[in-house]
Amino acid sequence: MNEPLTPEPVSLEPATLLLDGNQYRLPVVEGSEGERGIDIAQLRADTGHITLDPGYGNTGSCTSAITFIDGDEGILRYRGIPIEQFVDSPTFIEVAWLLIFGHLPSETEYHSFSEDLTRFANIDEGMKHQFEGFPRSAPPMAILSAMINALSCYHPELHELEDEHELRHAAARLISKIRTIAAYAFRHSRGLPYIYPDPSLRYVPNLLHMMFSLPYRQYVCPNLVRKAMNLILILHADHEQNCSTSTVRMVGSSGANLFASCAAGVCALWGPLHGGANVAVLNMLEQIHRGNITPEEYVRLAKDKDSKVRLMGFGPRVYKNFDPRAQMLQKVAEELVPQLSGDDPLLEIARRLEEIALSDPYFVERKLYPNVDFYSGILLRGIGIPTNMFTVIFAMGRLPGWIGHWWEQSQMPGGRIARPRQIYTGNGLTDYLPMERRP
Ligand code: ACO
Repeated sequence: MNEPLTPEPVSLEPATLLLDGNQYRLPVVEGSEGERGIDIAQLRADTGHITLDPGYGNTGSCTSAITFIDGDEGILRYRGIPIEQFVDSPTFIEVAWLLIFGHLPSETEYHSFSEDLTRFANIDEGMKHQFEGFPRSAPPMAILSAMINALSCYHPELHELEDEHELRHAAARLISKIRTIAAYAFRHSRGLPYIYPDPSLRYVPNLLHMMFSLPYRQYVCPNLVRKAMNLILILHADHEQNCSTSTVRMVGSSGANLFASCAAGVCALWGPLHGGANVAVLNMLEQIHRGNITPEEYVRLAKDKDSKVRLMGFGPRVYKNFDPRAQMLQKVAEELVPQLSGDDPLLEIARRLEEIALSDPYFVERKLYPNVDFYSGILLRGIGIPTNMFTVIFAMGRLPGWIGHWWEQSQMPGGRIARPRQIYTGNGLTDYLPMERRP
């Protein structure tokens, strides 16, 4: 028999809740790394109360065996493996397999999954025409979400996945085709002809070939670029119950298919407080570079609650210490950007902003550190990726995480539709007023 996808947490001594003079015992559970949670699943039935936690900062929506984060220690692990161990050897495809299927692929699994990715890289010719319906100026994230959803029309046989074999087919199609869709979204925005995937190329070189080759000149992917892109995709591949992954799980909890759920994930990722922050960081750095504002002034504005400005690329909620992904990306950016594109003044500005923020009591007291988006944009820019494609690259990286979570959620024994409650604060009972009697 297969191991359960998410082993049951351990039960500890229950907590006691005193409410309206009554005492309630609430189960306490502990995960495999010692995280503890009070299980309130019966709270409303037993007490008539719900919990209130806007932004879900204290709410565990599920148990999960995919990714572990210890934000106080700056730890991030995929299926138990520390993120630092992914720097040199594995490919993004190995990591994708790990996240989705729970173990590193054997040689046979890796090669046959890679073959599937090559086999499934083309999109239906009919989909190519759908790109024409979008204006040239359409944000590539809008196209990406729409096209991932459209993929479901071409694969009705994959709407319901019975077992890991069918999951593998759906995952390979999505991971392969998102690359083609991303590249075509870029080509469309530039009015360039679409370039078919090249079956002789690996995942990253094939993406860049479809983005940058011209009918008269094939793009050849330098080794440095392949390595840097591979790392960027790996570092974005999962981050447990973040906004877009929670969205994918929530949409999937209604029984929506994998394509529709991931299309919703793209929409959630688009926002500037989430994946869209990589674009916002670059805009911020460029603004400073153009001389519109100094780094000191920017940090001052970010601290001013009336300004609505935030220091973009700072402060993921779950880390109260360095985001290990940011540290890794900074190191790679420092090494590679000068080799890829010469000295980039934005790198110096980023260093300066970081230095100012990390010595400012506002950021120190709130434990706000650079996150994955702070240095990723500078690296992507060094590789030659245009700014409007940054969040699309993030989505390509995050896709295996979404797929792994969607599957885990769909396999949960006794899984229920995700449906939070609320504390209503609106009108009391109010009569309908016909139009002629309204003020
Ligand atoms: N700049 C200035 N102040 C900040 C920042 C920031 N980047 N981030 C948080 N704060 C302040 C808040 O104003 C708040 O101050 P207060 O206690 O005086 O009210 C305090 O720090 C706590 O902030 P919250 O908004 O409660 O933090 P939350 O966990 O809700 O938000 C978020 C997290 C959205 C990432 C936030 O830090 C932010 O807006 N950062 C900038 C955008 C960004 O980089 N997003 C990418 C996140 S990583 C990812 O999704 C891949």
